[in-house]
Order: sequence, then structure tokens, then C-alpha cells
Amino acid sequence: MTIEQREKLIKASIDVRKNAYAPFSHFSVGAAVLTKKGNIYSGCNFESIAFGAGVCAERVAIGNAISNGEREITALCVSGKNSDITPCGICRQVLSEFGNIEILCSNEDGSSVNVYDMKSLLPFAFDTI
Ligand code: THU
Repeated sequence: MTIEQREKLIKASIDVRKNAYAPFSHFSVGAAVLTKKGNIYSGCNFESIAFGAGVCAERVAIGNAISNGEREITALCVSGKNSDITPCGICRQVLSEFGNIEILCSNEDGSSVNVYDMKSLLPFAFDTI
């Protein structure tokens, strides 16, 4: 990932966060993925009064990329108010589908970004059927 791509990825993740629909948790999240082709797709979390039906920002961003024909994701940025945010367990399993990709975790303005890789976030991911 180039420095320019990294900046664009973080910005896309922060920008989409304003669209989060989180009337129950009041926890707004934005996410963006970078594909091997160099495209960026974003998504925010949305919640439901049937609580379990909500979806995390990470999986919305991935679904957006997939829906646009992308199959290779090289990095993801997730943004919360603070950079202590990390993808939940379900999202970690979904993200591990794309290999040991880089995961950036940003605060609301990009002034603090923690960097992880998927294998350290989810060792021993399920990968056998
Ligand atoms: N959430 C995300 O969208 N991504 C994360 O990484 C953590 C949690 C959402 C799910 C729910 O809408 C709200 O944040 C509180 O858990």
C-alpha cells in the first residue's frame, strides 16, 4: 500500500462513519477496504430493533467491494471515535478470507491509527471445509 493509498483508505473510512445508523448503541463505525486493483469501497454499521440483525461497518464495506466484482482485498481501515476499536470476532473471520491483510484502526480524525495484521488478530482462523 502506498502512502497515498493509506491516506485515502483512512479518509474513506472516517468519512463514511457519519452515515452510521446506530440508534441503539450510539456507537458509529466506518470502514473501507482497498482492493488489489487499487479501488476503495466503504461502509458503515447499521443496527436494527431486532438487535441481532445489525451489521458491522467492516462487513458492509466488504460486501460493497464484493458486489462491485472485487475478489482481492489487500487492506481494511476501521474507524471509531477512538483508535482502540478493533474488528469483532465475526468480522475477523470474514476478513481472514482475504489472507493476512493489513488492518488499520483509526480514531475519528485519523490522528491516531493502530496497525495490525489479520493473523495476529485471528490466529488459527477456520479455513477448512
Ligand atoms: N461495530 C462495528 O461496526 N465494527 C466494529 O469493529 C465493532 C462494532 C458496530 C456493531 C454495532 O452496531 C455497534 O458497533 C456496537 O457494537
